[in-house]
Amino acid sequence: MERKERKPVYYSEYLQLDKILNAQQPESAKEGLRADDEMLFIIIHQAYELWFKQILHELSIVRGIFSQPNIENNAPDIHNSVHRLKRICGILEVAVMQMGILETMTPLDFLDFRDLLRPASGFQSIQFKMIEASLGLKYDQRHGKAYYLSQLTAADVDRVKQAESELSLLVLLDRWLARMPFVNNPEYWGDHVGSFWNRYRDAYVASLSEAEMQNLKVFDAIFINQEQYPGDRSFSVEASRNAMFIMLYRDQPLLQLPYELLSTLLEIDEQLSMWRHRHIHMVQRTIGKRVGTGGSTGAEYLRGAADSHYVFKELAELTSFLLPRNMLPELPTSLVGDLGYRR
Ligand code: HEM
Repeated sequence: MERKERKPVYYSEYLQLDKILNAQQPESAKEGLRADDEMLFIIIHQAYELWFKQILHELSIVRGIFSQPNIENNAPDIHNSVHRLKRICGILEVAVMQMGILETMTPLDFLDFRDLLRPASGFQSIQFKMIEASLGLKYDQRHGKAYYLSQLTAADVDRVKQAESELSLLVLLDRWLARMPFVNNPEYWGDHVGSFWNRYRDAYVASLSEAEMQNLKVFDAIFINQEQYPGDRSFSVEASRNAMFIMLYRDQPLLQLPYELLSTLLEIDEQLSMWRHRHIHMVQRTIGKRVGTGGSTGAEYLRGAADSHYVFKELAELTSFLLPRNMLPELPTSLVGDLGYRR
């Protein structure tokens, strides 16, 4: 077959640099004012938005993988997902560090052009809100909801709402975890199916000190009867149990990748939180107690969002219920065989 002639690729055309490098239009220059740091301010925001785009790209691939009705445990899919989620962690690490460059702009430098930006604000970053939504933050959980709707154009509200209406990674993870077939499968447990969690609960009770006894209520509300749980939960009883099972038996070959997946999701939450806190410090240093250009209470609003926007907090909470390896219930030999790819 004859190969089709392709037009030679030229670096600047391929990267569309004419668009990117002509997209910095300082407001101060339009007003004939001198504000030397506005260029840095624009470029740093643009760099963030490009990284946000890459994060959304990775998340859409991972969500596509987890949208399948079934994912084989030893298929490339889980590895591919972990690989991409780790890339997101890498990007977020850069995002946190990048704040240091912006901090070379002093409060006085910022005042040269700050008033010209009103009411624009990073708060209007739709991609940031779409990342939160794709991961699993729901509208009802957003800090300052009324403020959120008032600051965006109707088209942007629609974009975020669309992202919020799609199946988030958190929802897909809950479904995937609930499908995991080890602890509730009579093939392994015979007549003892269901006994694992009774034995685990007994061992957990034995591990509690007097002062920790109220933890048992929470244990039961998470792993036995969720009607007792105060508030909504993203993870069903089955999903919570299976996530715990992965954490407990993560040394078993078949559970190593699922464990890596759960830890990487916790790492994403942690890196996002680091970004939020770094941003708050930078904001406090740059504008002190003044309100934001977007009109919020500034650092106070941001602290509220930082405290309440963790997405995988139910995963993080599970660590309170871990037991030392020597207290774990013994698993049936056939199950250990399958977890070790030995059957
Ligand atoms: C001098 C630098 C900056 C200052 C003083 C600043 C200040 C603020 C303030 C006060 C808010 C709260 C909303 C408001 O009232 O405006 C906010 C929100 C936000 N900013 Fe910044 N910001 C700066 C740089 C950045 C950069 C470089 C980014 C990167 C994209 C960014 C992204 C965001 C995001 C995503 C929010 C919303 C956060 C949330 O709702 O949890 N900001 N910013």
